[in-house]
Amino acid sequence: MEFLHRPVLLEPTVKALTDPHFGGKSRVGQEEGDTRTRLSGIFVDGTFGRGGHSRLLLSKLASDARLVVFDKDPEAIAHAQVLQAEDSRVQVVHDGFASMAQQLQALGIAQVDGVMLDLGISSPQIDDASRGFSFMHEGPLDMRMDTSRGPTAAQWLADASVEEIKEVIAKYGEERFAFQIAKALVARRESGPLRTTLDLAELVASVVRTREKGKHPATRTFQALRIYLNQELEELAFTLATVLKVLAPKGRLAVISFHSLEDRMVKQCIAAAANPAAVHARLPIFEKDLPQPILYSLGRVLPSEDEVAGNARARSAVLRVAQRTQTPLPPDQGASFVKAVSLAPKLAAHARRRQK
Ligand SMILES: C[S@@+](CC[C@H](N)C(=O)[O-])C[C@H]1O[C@@H](n2cnc3c(N)ncnc32)[C@H](O)[C@@H]1O
Repeated sequence: MEFLHRPVLLEPTVKALTDPHFGGKSRVGQEEGDTRTRLSGIFVDGTFGRGGHSRLLLSKLASDARLVVFDKDPEAIAHAQVLQAEDSRVQVVHDGFASMAQQLQALGIAQVDGVMLDLGISSPQIDDASRGFSFMHEGPLDMRMDTSRGPTAAQWLADASVEEIKEVIAKYGEERFAFQIAKALVARRESGPLRTTLDLAELVASVVRTREKGKHPATRTFQALRIYLNQELEELAFTLATVLKVLAPKGRLAVISFHSLEDRMVKQCIAAAANPAAVHARLPIFEKDLPQPILYSLGRVLPSEDEVAGNARARSAVLRVAQRTQTPLPPDQGASFVKAVSLAPKLAAHARRRQK
């Protein structure tokens, strides 16, 4: 069965990468004179999915442009390979976008003119019950975007401790009942392992006592496990820290987030790169010696009412766009974001434990 994905914020995202005048007023007082066309450049789609954004971008790019597309998901990659066979400007990489700098280097690309990230999961991943992402459809408890590596949700839940489960559900699901859910999950092991999405959804529903309007009680738990198992925030933090190394001067970054944990990270990263002097404002140094912005924001775009009415996934979407300045990167740029990486080492430790 073919599952479809309806791209969110499609036109503004592609404009963000291709229109020199994107951002209008927010650019006043910033670097002037950006009239060059970027349509012959090198671009990256870090989250190919079913290629909605990639296809529209390609339709705007010149015949000598290049587009390197990434996805963790083997099914998305199969779709990307079909596009690659049709369009010689496309190159496909089956890997997380956090490997972007390294993978581009392997392709002989030092810098790119635009990077877009459309975060989270695609509709096909949710709608295909066999992927185990949905509490609405019975399926194996998997939840991996990259089905070729890493523990499934069922494997992780089979031997994580109450403390580990609680931490994940509280941190990535912002779930008030994280401890009660974790305790119930560990107790449930005595009657056999959790195997399916509905096993998990029912167990969580039996423990979560307050009901959020329009939300299944297991929404937060499913979100948390998915984010953790796929290391979504760690990959985003690492990528935000390193993407500046691959963006050429005047190159653009466009990121679509779907929840506040992601959007906060994107917003803070852009703000820190746009206002590095703020950190040093009270120090006795001359203005000319203050660190200069390495990015500036081109603003935020939300979906229109029409888009939200036609596509429920768009409801929580936020697009943030920034442009690289000419300032060379300070050596430690982005280090603080990588330090913010939190639970990933625990997942690695868990994987090692399972191998023993
Ligand atoms: C929202 S969908 C993208 C949809 C796409 N823009 C389109 O128009 O079809 C997100 C995709 O990004 C992939 N993905 C999520 N995180 C990733 C990561 N860290 N690295 C690579 N791919 C990732 C998912 O597997 C999924 O296919």
